[in-house]
Amino acid sequence: MYALVIDGGRPLEGQVRISGAKNAALPLMAAAILTREPCVIRGIPRLSDVAFMGRILTSLGASVRFNGGSVTIQASRIRGFADYDLVRKMRASVCILGPLLARLGHAQVSYPGGCVIGPRPIDLHLKGMRALGAEITIDGGYVCARAEKLRGAPIFLGGRAGPTVLGTANVMMAAALAEGTTVIDSAACEPEVVDLANFLNAMGAKIAGAGSPTITVTGVKELHGATHEVIPDRIEAATFAIAAAATKGEVTLTHVRPEHLRSVLDKLMEVGVEIFENGESLTVRAAGPFRPSDITTQPYAGFPTDAQAQMTVLMTQADGVSIITERIFESRFMHVSELARLGANIAIEGPSAVVKGPTPLRGAPVMASDLRASAALVIAGLVAQGRTRVRRIYHLDRGYEMIDAKLRKLGARVRRISE
Ligand code: UD1
Repeated sequence: MYALVIDGGRPLEGQVRISGAKNAALPLMAAAILTREPCVIRGIPRLSDVAFMGRILTSLGASVRFNGGSVTIQASRIRGFADYDLVRKMRASVCILGPLLARLGHAQVSYPGGCVIGPRPIDLHLKGMRALGAEITIDGGYVCARAEKLRGAPIFLGGRAGPTVLGTANVMMAAALAEGTTVIDSAACEPEVVDLANFLNAMGAKIAGAGSPTITVTGVKELHGATHEVIPDRIEAATFAIAAAATKGEVTLTHVRPEHLRSVLDKLMEVGVEIFENGESLTVRAAGPFRPSDITTQPYAGFPTDAQAQMTVLMTQADGVSIITERIFESRFMHVSELARLGANIAIEGPSAVVKGPTPLRGAPVMASDLRASAALVIAGLVAQGRTRVRRIYHLDRGYEMIDAKLRKLGARVRRISE
């Protein structure tokens, strides 16, 4: 296992290129199995989750070839069985359910388990598939779905915590090949859903309204191959922007879509960070002191849950009390006890983290628990005086392409060591 050793206390300075979005790439790869023809997806980030999705598609019988920053997927023939040992390692693998059902009329996919950020049900995915006419049973830990023919239908996809991102993706993919028209209401509006709809449309699907809460999918008989470029990763961009601010540095992010980052940029400006936009690049500059803030995570275009842990670190440097409320994943505060080891003053009260700042942070060994919590610990390590060792960084490699190399280019003293 690898760890990152960070000698902190230096501002990040320079320029960093943001990679393609993991959360767009994974459903895009799953969508490629909706056709027999080859699909090319460019701007694919080199991440363990992406490699993993490649392995799942290969296990279904597709040919998956990575070449530099692109992947070519051809699913001339596929089978509808996704094994427990593969699916349990990555929850996003549930988004093969819709494509398999649409393409084959049946699918048997291991029921994904929970994870450290809380229970992660798939009831809305299944509700969507049922509405399209699939019969679903749970047998031996597998979701077994079967449909003679998928038929378009009105589907309300709102859940307790709002819309579902991968659920919307799953239903959109299944509905693309259904007979008739599907109207998804309370659809997720995330840019990754729009990216998927654009790819599906390039494959011959008829999808309108993606990016709004109502998506209309007019089913077609067949989809064909297409080439597509993944959107830039807004969460990686948010992470580097917050890291630049927290270390009181100045960093220019290139290959970003500022319009996907409004809620994060707005918060950064509110607490005293300067932001300069220039087309597809953004410069983040901070000298401090920072003002405290109240932040509540919400579905897009609200503040993303995937940037909550990182923002919590910045608020430890703000002058006063900040309240960070998590409304998407209730147990997503695993980073808090590790941040306390560095000297942060954070109390959990129900769904909120109450952060009292500013607190000087001091390096310590910490343990990463999930992807975004790991990113938060890295930012904290960059801020802290002295040495921080972030252990179990395989979480980080799931979602951040070459994060240590990118940080070194910005002047950080970061080393990857084998433990
Ligand atoms: C995606 C992202 C993840 C991000 C999350 C929320 C990918 C690969 N992952 O995950 O990084 O944190 O969106 O922005 O894109 N829910 C249900 N029933 C369901 C499905 C979800 O109740 O069937 C609930 C979840 O428990 C959660 C909320 O809905 O409270 C949102 O989850 P969802 O949008 O589905 O997250 P994912 O798509 O799994």
